[in-house]
Formats: sequence, C-alpha cells, structure tokens
Amino acid sequence: MTKPRLRFFENSVNQRHITAADRYLYKQEAPRYNLVVIGTGTMGQEHMRVAVLLGRARVLGIYDQQPESLDAAEAAYRLISDEPLRRYADLQSACSDTDADVLMICTPNFTHVDVLKTALASGKPIFLEKPMATTLADAVAMMDAAHHHNAFVQIGLQYRYKAQYQEAFYEIKQRASLGQIHTISMSEYRPPFLDKVGQWNKFNRNTGGTLVEKCCHYFDLINLMADSRAVRVYASGGQAVNFLDFQKDGVASDIDDHAFVTIEYANGIRASFTLNMFCPDFSEELIVVGDQGRLVTHERFDFHAQVPTQTSIKVELGENGASRNTNLSYPMLIEQSGHHGATYYEHIALMNQLDGKPVDCATMQQGLWAMIVASAAQESMRSGHVVSIDSFLCAQQLEQLLEGGQV
Ligand SMILES: NC(=O)c1ccc[n+]([C@@H]2O[C@H](COP(=O)([O-])OP(=O)(O)OC[C@H]3O[C@@H](n4cnc5c(N)ncnc54)[C@H](O)[C@@H]3O)[C@@H](O)[C@H]2O)c1
Repeated sequence: MTKPRLRFFENSVNQRHITAADRYLYKQEAPRYNLVVIGTGTMGQEHMRVAVLLGRARVLGIYDQQPESLDAAEAAYRLISDEPLRRYADLQSACSDTDADVLMICTPNFTHVDVLKTALASGKPIFLEKPMATTLADAVAMMDAAHHHNAFVQIGLQYRYKAQYQEAFYEIKQRASLGQIHTISMSEYRPPFLDKVGQWNKFNRNTGGTLVEKCCHYFDLINLMADSRAVRVYASGGQAVNFLDFQKDGVASDIDDHAFVTIEYANGIRASFTLNMFCPDFSEELIVVGDQGRLVTHERFDFHAQVPTQTSIKVELGENGASRNTNLSYPMLIEQSGHHGATYYEHIALMNQLDGKPVDCATMQQGLWAMIVASAAQESMRSGHVVSIDSFLCAQQLEQLLEGGQV
C-alpha cells in the first residue's frame, strides 16, 4: 500500500499522544541523502526549508561568504529541524565533505562559473541555481567542464513544476488536445527585484541582464512547449521606473524593468513574452493556441490582499471536444514552502535523480538554451535589430552550438 501523507493530522497537537511505537500512517522514512547548501540567502534558505518539508534528504551543512546569511539560515532551520548543521569555513571544505551526497549552489549568478568549478572537482552530483551563468561563453565553458563529470548537474529551472505548467504540458504533449501548436504567449507582471546581498541583482554585469536573470524561467518553458530550436528573436524594452536613482559605489543601476520579446522557432511556432516589473502584485499568464483549441493559464499572487495564490487553467476546444475551466492548487503547506510549490516538486525530481530514476528536471543543455534566447533578446534590445540565433552564436565564437538541436 502507498501510504497517504496526512501532514494535517501528523502535525496536529491532538495527535501528539501517538508514540513512535504506534506511528504507521504518520511514520516517515529517515532521510536518505545529505545536502550541502552553498549560498544561504533567499534561495538557499528556500531549498533548506523545502528539503526538510519533503523529508527525503537532510541538510548536512551550509557555506556562505556572509556571516549574517549563515546566522539567518541557521536560525530559520532551527525552527523546523533539530538535526545538527555543519558550518564550513570555506567553499573547498563545503564541496569536499565526504558525507555530502549533493552540492546545491545558490550563490549569485556571476559566481556560478567559479563555484561550479570547485564543486565539479568533488565528483558529486550538483544542483545549480538558474541562470547557469551571466554570459553564454561562461555557460558553454561550464558545460564543457561538466562533460567528464560522472554525476549529474541539475539546473534550478523549477517553474516547469508550477501546477498550471504541469497541466499545460499534459494538454499540449500527452493529450495533444490543442492539435498542432502555432502560437505561444507568456507574460509576467510583478513588483521590482528585491533587495539582495551586496545588491548584486541591480547590475547587468552580475546578472547577465534582466531577461537572463529572471526570464530564463519563461524562455525555458516556451522552448519546451515549442519543442524546437529558436531561430530569430526581436525584443524591445528598457529601464523606465525601477532603480533609476539607485547607485552603488558610484555606479548607477542598469537593469531593465520591462520588455516585449518575439521568438520564431525552426518548426514555425511563433512566441511572445512580456515582462513588466513595476506592478503592485504578481501575475503570470500563458496562452497557447493550436489548430484544435486554445489553452490559457493564470497565476495571481496578491500579497497585499494576503490571499492564497490563485491558479487556473482553461482549455477551449470549441466543437473539437469538452472545454473546461479549472482552478489548480497544490497543498497549502507545499505552495507556501516556495515558488507556489514548484521548488518542492523540483526537490522530488532531485531525489529521484539521486535514486537513479528517470526525471524531467532541467539539464545544462536546457539551461543553456533558455540563456541563448534570453541573451539574444538582451542583444536585440540593445541593438534595436532582429537577432538571428545562428549569427549571434557565430559572433561569439560559439559555432559548436549550431549543430545538434535543442531540448
Ligand atoms: N529558481 C528560482 O526561482 C530562483 C529564485 C531566486 C533566486 N534564484 C537564484 O538563486 C541564486 C541566489 O539568489 P538569492 O535570491 O538567494 O540571492 P541572495 O543575495 O539572497 O543570496 C545569495 C547568497 O550567496 C552568498 N554568496 C555570494 N557569493 C558567494 C560565494 N562566492 N560563495 C558563497 N556564498 C556566496 C551571499 O552572501 C548571499 O547570502 C541566484 O543565482 C538567483 O538567480 C533562483
């Protein structure tokens, strides 16, 4: 029998009299894997929280350059776990702990290339937060370096596990209810980038640009849905509202806060992506249209009203079948653990990958292609011209990427 997970009862005060000897439904397997989290800021702490919630791995130890981040991460961890937590003095010790099963790199984008190099030398499985790097040259060098790595490198593109995109993939690929897909449009409307350690995310040189830093998630989703190679990109955008007066060490912030992006794929699919980062709350929309129907997903996170995230999927099939309009949710505990539950399901994929099972989590190749579309869009915004992906790759001496296709 597969036991149901009944956390509501498991954690309830009126079930505390159930002793360890009587636990059957409430009994959980001991964690099998040990995680080491490198970079314990916002995302590193989310991974620690999610790992404890899932219960298939324990957080063995943490490393960060900033003591305040370690203290905050440890304090937050103490609220949810009484397991011991190692603190490493440096990156090398974090990566070479022989008890570690997987290294989770959650440091800022511009550090990924160097941190990954040290992590790869350990020979251990690696989870690397998105985006892989700030430049395509670094991302390709990282893939080359990982080529002889005998363990996997999973990229933190977890939006594919959001409830509405899981359902959209099912409609588009398994059920094929929309028929042949022709257009895909996505949008994200949200507040500005939050404060970060050293305010690294206010500068393109640290992030790779807003479309790389944030929107690689959406380009990954669009690439997967189009299931083809992007061939041309046009984008228009800029910095209209956010951080116009922000400076650090005399250098002004240069990050874009809005953009419109158009992508053409080799199989004829056309896609668009819209970003606006000066909104009061968060909302995301996807519209996919095929020759048999239209699919629309919404996600609305109104933190001012303090209501739970509202997520839905609508499938309109006209006379081709049953249409429907459905609200979607993951259990509240899971949704609230981070990114509306997507990170939790990303951890399940990580654990399954450690178990040696087949998984659908992001590969380095997919992480690279999300970056290629994003970087081409950044270049188009800069130059004002349509960017041919092949010419763009050749201009950066990345001819090796012309062959082999994607996803
Ligand atoms: N997958 C997602 O949805 C998602 C969401 C947010 C952030 N991220 C990614 O996670 C990474 C971290 O972002 P964040 O929001 O947690 O930033 P953050 O500023 O909150 O935390 C980063 C932490 O890394 C530490 N750090 C910096 N350089 C380091 C180094 N060389 N070695 C060790 N520690 C170092 C900082 O002191 C800080 O504590 C970024 O790559 C970001 O793009 C992913």
